[in-house]
Amino acid sequence: MKKFKIVVLPGDGIGPEIIHEGLKVLKSVEENLNNINFEFIEYECGAQYYLKTGKKEEWPKEVFDVCKNEADAILLGAIGWTDPQTGKTVSYPSGRMVGLDILFGLRFGLDLYANIRPTKLFEGVQHKISGEFRNIWSPKNVDFVTIRENTEGLYSDTHGGLNRGGQTEIATDVRLITRKGSERVIKFAFEYCKRRNKGSPKDGKLRVTCVDKSNVTAGCKLFRKIYQEIAPQYPEIEQDYAFIDAFTQWIIRTPEWFDVCVVPNMFGDIATDLAAVLQGSLGMAASGNVGDKYGMFEPLHGSAPKYTGKNVVNPIATILAGAMMLDWLSMKNNDESTLKKGSNLIDQAVQAVLKEGKIRTYDLGGSSSTSEVGDAIANKIKQLTK
Ligand code: IPM
Ligand code: MG
Repeated sequence: MKKFKIVVLPGDGIGPEIIHEGLKVLKSVEENLNNINFEFIEYECGAQYYLKTGKKEEWPKEVFDVCKNEADAILLGAIGWTDPQTGKTVSYPSGRMVGLDILFGLRFGLDLYANIRPTKLFEGVQHKISGEFRNIWSPKNVDFVTIRENTEGLYSDTHGGLNRGGQTEIATDVRLITRKGSERVIKFAFEYCKRRNKGSPKDGKLRVTCVDKSNVTAGCKLFRKIYQEIAPQYPEIEQDYAFIDAFTQWIIRTPEWFDVCVVPNMFGDIATDLAAVLQGSLGMAASGNVGDKYGMFEPLHGSAPKYTGKNVVNPIATILAGAMMLDWLSMKNNDESTLKKGSNLIDQAVQAVLKEGKIRTYDLGGSSSTSEVGDAIANKIKQLTK
């Protein structure tokens, strides 16, 4: 029996609702595959927890150490809270959003340098490009993965400013791009492309697209140079280049061209929200933050305060983040059987439920509840393993 310790951080807003469904599905995998066992250790955390504890802390101090020293993987719901009535985000006096210490604490603290963000349109789901283009893309066109650099760029801790007489006059964010950071994420993208072994929907070729703004910025020039150093080590993978501005139109215009794309931090943040349009909803977009030792998995979307407590949001991004977690654990533990099977099983169950077209939340044009979607996928896993 293989045993895995998973730290679960539901966080703010809809976080607990979607995490509940994510765990339901993982428990169904555990019940229906014989030799897998999960121990879930759940911690309350986030901006709402901070308010509840009298502004003492946004997560219990020991959580980071448990993640670092004991956990096999981490599953996170959503962090951050903006009051839907006042539009005010819970922040520290410095202006820093409460909750960021959890997300960045894990990304930077555990050195999770690659952020894996698949863009896949499932059968039975309509993308969100409207009007006369409604039927332009089908699931066979949309299946690529963005690898976003996750520990530097505009997110490096180099923010500063000038305050005089109580007024902020200047604010700066330095965009740090390093050789080490670029090398490891670009290598990761090539290795990921090899392991995925799917190729581009257009021509089946394995392809890693280097996305940057190297026609202008020094950081991107270095990023592209390093890509060009690494690419020849993978002769079976086609080299491909795009500037980020053009890339945003190409992913919408010809998504079938792309297989794996590697992108500096902030560009990747923006491009993957845009790409979610092709998936039908942000509620379909999963993401995995991984490094050499640790992995943290989460949906792409945020805490959606407006929908909190209503049991209406789409839990599939979190459910698919669970599948990514199992895939990553299988890679890390050299276990291509049980864990990989569990990951595929979740994928297949999501696919089957969506294809049947009966159960879907409002964002995909249906009226099912969050828990109905989780139930349907968990039951489908049972059926598929019979
Ligand atoms: C994401 C989010 C985060 C990011 C925010 C919440 C800091 O947008 O994971 O894409 O920008 O990385
Ligand atoms: Mg984002």
